[in-house]
Order: sequence, then structure tokens, then C-alpha cells
Amino acid sequence: MSRNSKWGLFWLLVIGAFIGILLTAGMVRTVQWAGSNDFCTGWCHSMDPVTVAYKSGTHYKTASGVHAGCSDCHLLNETQHPLTPTKYVALLANKVKAGSISGWGHITGSINTPEKWLEKRDELSKNVLTFMKDSGFSNCRGCHDLSLMYNEKKPFVGKMHESLIDKPETNCVMCHRNVGHNYKDVDAYIKAENKWPTTEAVAEFVKKNTSATK
Ligand code: HEC
Ligand code: HEC
Ligand code: HEC
Repeated sequence: MSRNSKWGLFWLLVIGAFIGILLTAGMVRTVQWAGSNDFCTGWCHSMDPVTVAYKSGTHYKTASGVHAGCSDCHLLNETQHPLTPTKYVALLANKVKAGSISGWGHITGSINTPEKWLEKRDELSKNVLTFMKDSGFSNCRGCHDLSLMYNEKKPFVGKMHESLIDKPETNCVMCHRNVGHNYKDVDAYIKAENKWPTTEAVAEFVKKNTSATK
């Protein structure tokens, strides 16, 4: 190899590595963006009730301000530590699947009005619960280490959960109904107004109705 072509090869490698880093960084950002709350809720109205109900759930606003976003609960392996390459590939595949199911339902018109959405929700809930059961509620467990739960005032709570460590079939949501979404007010709003909800409109609606019944 001549001196010149050696330098040529060197720079090619440097530039190649640089482009590689840029691409990887770009991909990581895209993947993060595609898993953000904004991405999951910003595309179509059929996510409005879900989002409003999420904000009334127990994982949006918390005592400590540490909270869970859509992907934390809904994307396979999102809260797994450590995240191995195999698990990451499964995560990506799951992301594509989750995204396309919600987009497809909207396009085919099955959930394009608030009423239709309300009828369809049981089915959607069941799909989500099946996913969680199949993965042994590993997303919940990824954040809630059942071996480390300790509440001074209620020591039995930690003990009880500790006994669930070896029982991946335990349905956390059976006892913790509203962790993800609390639909109480959202449903009342949709039934009365037949409109896609917003957090403000639902709050306004609840205020109006509670003062009316006083
Ligand atoms: C703390 C965990 C958690 C978080 C965070 C969460 N969800 Fe859920 N989600 C659930 C659970 C559990 C269910 C199934 C049972 C239910 O409806 O509560 C569910 C159900 C759903 C459903 C099916 C319809 C339904 O409500 O049953 C959709 C769609 C959904 N979630 C989307 C989202 C989106 C979008 C976000 C973010 C704005 C989000 N979820 C945040 C746990 C969560
Ligand atoms: C991203 C991490 C994360 C994930 C995923 C997650 N949680 Fe939580 N969870 C939290 C945090 C943070 C709190 C609030 C702690 C505080 O009060 O500051 C919390 C609070 C709770 C509480 C107590 C408040 C309440 O709802 O009564 C329960 C129960 C609970 N989570 C169950 C679940 C279940 C079941 C799942 C799976 C569907 C889940 N969590 C998924 C982080 C998470
Ligand atoms: C048989 C019912 C039951 C099941 C199943 C269950 N829990 Fe609980 N959980 C409880 C009770 C009861 C409490 C205490 C509630 C209280 O203090 O008001 C609790 C409290 C919690 C808390 C809050 C702890 C605290 O002290 O604030 C978290 C987090 C939690 N559970 C997570 C989970 C996760 C994750 C699963 C699934 C692996 C699960 N739970 C399964 C009944 C259950």
C-alpha cells in the first residue's frame, strides 16, 4: 500500500466510525421518541380517553414525582435491567407491533368515534392484560422489586408481595385496578357529551356535575 492510500484508509475508517456514531445516536433518539408519551398520544383522537384516564391514574402524578410513562408499562422489556441485546430486539419488535395495532384500529374505523371507542375498550383492555400476563407482569416488576417493598406503617404489605416473587402468573392489575388508567370520570363525560375528552373538559364536567348534585 502506498503512503497516500494508507492515509486514505485511515480517514475512511475515522469518517466511517463517526457516521456510525451519528446513526446510532439518531436511532436511539428515534426509538426513544417513538416510545415517548407524546408519540403514543399525539396522533389520533382514539388515544384521548386513554391519555386523560392515564392522567387520573396513579402513575402520572405521584407523591415523589417519580412516575411511569406509556412505554414503561406497555412495551415489553422497557423496565428490564439489564437490557440485553436479545431483549432489546424483542422490545423493538414489540414497539412496532404496539404502534401498528393502534394505528390500524383507527384507520379501519373501528375506534374513530368516542362511542365506538367505549364499546371497543373491553377488547383493548383484554389485549393489554393478555400481553401483561404473558410477560409475567415483568414491566411492573421491573420498577417494583417485590423483594424490596417495605412500608413501615404496613409491614404486612411487603411480606405479602414478597410471597409473589416466584409467582409470575399473579395478576397485579386484579388488585390494582386503576394503576394505568382511571376511567371513572372519562366514561361519564363521554356518555353525557359524546365528545373526545380532554383533561380540562373532563375536570370542568366533573366540577359542573358535583355542584349540580349538591
Ligand atoms: C402503570 C402502568 C401503565 C401506564 C403508565 C400506562 N398504562 Fe395503558 N394500560 C395499563 C393497564 C394495566 C391496562 C389494562 C387494564 C386497564 O384498562 O386498566 C392498560 C390499557 C391500555 C389500553 C387499552 C384500553 C384500556 O384503557 O384498557 C391502551 C390503548 C393503553 N393502555 C395505552 C396507554 C398510553 C397511550 C399510555 C400513556 C399515556 C399508557 N397506556 C400508560 C397500564 C398502564
Ligand atoms: C417506570 C416504573 C414503574 C412501572 C413500570 C410501574 N410502576 Fe407502579 N409505581 C411507580 C412509582 C414511581 C410509584 C409511586 C411512588 C410514589 O408514591 O412516589 C408507583 C406506585 C404504585 C402503586 C401504589 C400507588 C397505587 O396505585 O395505589 C401501585 C399499587 C403500583 N405502583 C403498581 C404497579 C403495577 C401493577 C404496575 C404494572 C402494571 C406498575 N406499578 C408499573 C413506578 C412504576
Ligand atoms: C391479592 C391482591 C394483590 C395482588 C395480586 C398484588 N397486590 Fe400490590 N397491594 C395489595 C394491597 C392490599 C396493597 C396495600 C394497599 C394499601 O396500603 O392501601 C398493595 C400495595 C402495593 C404497592 C404500594 C406499596 C405501598 O406500601 O405503598 C405496590 C407498589 C404494589 N402493591 C405493587 C404490586 C405489584 C407489582 C403486583 C404484581 C406483582 C401486586 N402489587 C400484586 C394487594 C395486591
